[in-house]
Amino acid sequence: MFKSTFTGFIAIATSICFLFYSPSQKSFYHSLFISDSLSNNASISNHLYMLTRRPHVAGSEANAEAAVYVLSTLTSYNIKSHITPYYTALTYPVSRSLVLTPPPPEPPINFSLQQEIYENDPYADVADQVLPTFHGYAKSGTAYGPVVYVNYGRVEDYAKLKEIGVNVSSNIALARYGKIYRGDIVENAFAEGAVGVLIFTDRKDYGGVKWFPDDKWMPPSGVQVGSVFNGAGDPTTPGWPSTEDCERLSDDEVEKTGDVPLIPSLPISWADGESIIRSIAGDIASDDWQGGKDSPVYRVGPGPGTVNLTYIGKQVISRIENVIGIIEGAEEPDRFVILGNHRDAWTFGAVDPNSGTACLLEVAERLQKLQKKGWKPRRTIIFCNWDAEEYGLIGSTEWVEENRQMLATKVVAYLNVDTAVAGPGFQAAATPQLDELLIQAAKQVEDPDNSSQTIYDSWISSTNSPEIGRLGGGGSDYAAFVQHIGVPAADITFGGGYPVYHSMYDDFTWMKKFGDPMFQRHAAVASIWGLIALKLADDELLPFNYLPYVLELQKCAEDLKGEVLDISITLVPLFNSINALKKAAIKINDEIKALEGRKGWTFMWKDSQKVRELNDRLMMAERAFTDREGLPGRSWYKHLIYAPSKHNDYGSKSFPGIDDALEKAKSLNTVDSWHSVQHEIWRVSRAITQVSLCLKGELT
Ligand SMILES: *[C@@H]1O[C@H](CO)[C@@H](O)[C@H](O)[C@H]1NC(C)=O
Ligand SMILES: *[C@@H]1O[C@H](CO)[C@@H](O)[C@H](O)[C@H]1NC(C)=O
Ligand SMILES: *[C@@H]1O[C@H](CO)[C@@H](O)[C@H](O)[C@H]1NC(C)=O
Ligand SMILES: *[C@@H]1O[C@H](CO)[C@@H](O)[C@H](O)[C@H]1NC(C)=O
Ligand SMILES: *[C@@H]1O[C@H](CO)[C@@H](O)[C@H](O)[C@H]1NC(C)=O
Repeated sequence: MFKSTFTGFIAIATSICFLFYSPSQKSFYHSLFISDSLSNNASISNHLYMLTRRPHVAGSEANAEAAVYVLSTLTSYNIKSHITPYYTALTYPVSRSLVLTPPPPEPPINFSLQQEIYENDPYADVADQVLPTFHGYAKSGTAYGPVVYVNYGRVEDYAKLKEIGVNVSSNIALARYGKIYRGDIVENAFAEGAVGVLIFTDRKDYGGVKWFPDDKWMPPSGVQVGSVFNGAGDPTTPGWPSTEDCERLSDDEVEKTGDVPLIPSLPISWADGESIIRSIAGDIASDDWQGGKDSPVYRVGPGPGTVNLTYIGKQVISRIENVIGIIEGAEEPDRFVILGNHRDAWTFGAVDPNSGTACLLEVAERLQKLQKKGWKPRRTIIFCNWDAEEYGLIGSTEWVEENRQMLATKVVAYLNVDTAVAGPGFQAAATPQLDELLIQAAKQVEDPDNSSQTIYDSWISSTNSPEIGRLGGGGSDYAAFVQHIGVPAADITFGGGYPVYHSMYDDFTWMKKFGDPMFQRHAAVASIWGLIALKLADDELLPFNYLPYVLELQKCAEDLKGEVLDISITLVPLFNSINALKKAAIKINDEIKALEGRKGWTFMWKDSQKVRELNDRLMMAERAFTDREGLPGRSWYKHLIYAPSKHNDYGSKSFPGIDDALEKAKSLNTVDSWHSVQHEIWRVSRAITQVSLCLKGELT
């Protein structure tokens, strides 16, 4: 929605960050960027159609073709672009078999493990290019045994099984998808002694009465493929880039990292999952472990049904390709604003990730239109189209590892869009100094599902305040930027989860029928994504505010209080460091205010050299949350506030190091283990103190 500068100015006057907003030439271009005249849903739809004609998993010829499409499209928009290849260890399925032997008189079932082509499937002719269903980095081998149903495969699910005397050891774990990362499902099962793992798509969570192509739900034979790798980046090159002739870990060394599974696993459909459930006797599982209303009764086992599961994969050093496009900044070319999205998909990738790729290209096209009208960015804008995200954030991680020093000194912020659209409803996650910027941008862009309000209005309609997630999970390509080198970042999407996720049915037809029939949500993602990038690239003073960060840390520290009650653990250093950070955040905001000036009616900064110096502090403060040593036992994760939690890679916990130490101390309850908790509290406190010093910009 086009908003005049005047109303925009009133609306923002309440937020500190934008008191300093300058109604300049730049803001005219920013309004133009989000106006209907520049937005083009037909072009977005065409990009998506072109990118998803064939399945294009990482390392495939089809994905190299998609890279050429992205490269030539960016080049056609006058953006200087190139491909950065890496040579990474990816795995592909060679053979699979799954046989269920139910109790007699039922005959064995030899599952076909095939996703079925649907009626009038326009992609039927290329369906054989979809990889057989498998788990990336699954252990090759055969596993045989009675089946135990383990619900979502979480630590607490196994605790419940223990309570009722069910032993998973030597059995096959049957888990359902949904609550935690599949790599953690396999790891948790292994920790309980399971010899193999099957993960099914429960129709309670992903199904409906009707299914695709008649409805948006997962068909009975649909399978959620995905990686079970628990690290980030190429497993054979931890911490360094996978260039062509680089050093690599051996298979044994990779296994010792603990990031690849040591027992075989397979993903299966809800139809196959229910067949196996019917073969399991034993106690009836509790209500929250049951399926939907048409499902069989779920019992926990073990057995009497047994399965024989075989998965054989091969590991191939494959060429992957990131496409990088650069619009050089006119005034501060050495400061980078990065927009990133991945291109590789398990199957057709219409939702995940190419809805995002289509939006990336739309942002690029609109910026070309702005350039034709005379706009030039103040800072450098970089487009990154990553490869091999699905295997373990590989393309982005290798690139960050290769360019670490340059990125750590020059990147202002990283803006990720993975899935751009899966349905209605804006969702955002960010490091907290970007909260106000996100809110501001959401107030300027029209809600694609209701033209009489903005994205912000619909965003807050259920909660009354915008809910902004955090980036501690390992869910997408922001991980290396935030968690490894401490770059402020955001991640946005419309719709969140969707039922055909990572299945053969994530195709253009699904998007056109259910995800975004008019491609207006795509256009809205391009608007808000680009607008955030424009403000970061053009505002002379970086639109960062660290006060929301302080509030966030205070909240997390308060939550810790309950956890360490009655123990000789002190949180005083933590609270002290947060108080100091609050003072530093107020001080820098005051310094910013003192720089505001006016020349007649025109806003201007009093001292542009001082502005640049403040910007450096605002940019580098996030880096100070990182620690050279990283988290205990997980040294790649350097950020002490945002990292995945040990047992759930999707979970985004604050203070991951303290959490891990606490969990260990609670189970061991030794003096040493509690001492480690205190040590982790000290480490976080010291990192926060570094952030304060950086923001204050004064030597001690
Ligand atoms: C299962 O079926 C596959 C092909 O459909 C066949 O190759 C395999 O031998 C069968 N396994 C058993 C145990 O029947
Ligand atoms: C579970 O079974 C394994 C052998 O399969 C056995 O070694 C272990 O002691 C059992 N655990 C419990 C708690 O019964
Ligand atoms: C399991 O299947 C594999 C191959 O599919 C076969 O070699 C093996 O004998 C089977 N094991 C059992 C116990 O049936
Ligand atoms: C559209 O937004 C307006 C203004 O917020 C609201 O009154 C109306 O109920 C919304 N319409 C729908 C269909 O949600
Ligand atoms: C673009 O949006 C308009 C409505 O504004 C709609 O009529 C048209 O069908 C859309 N185009 C595509 C390709 O979805």
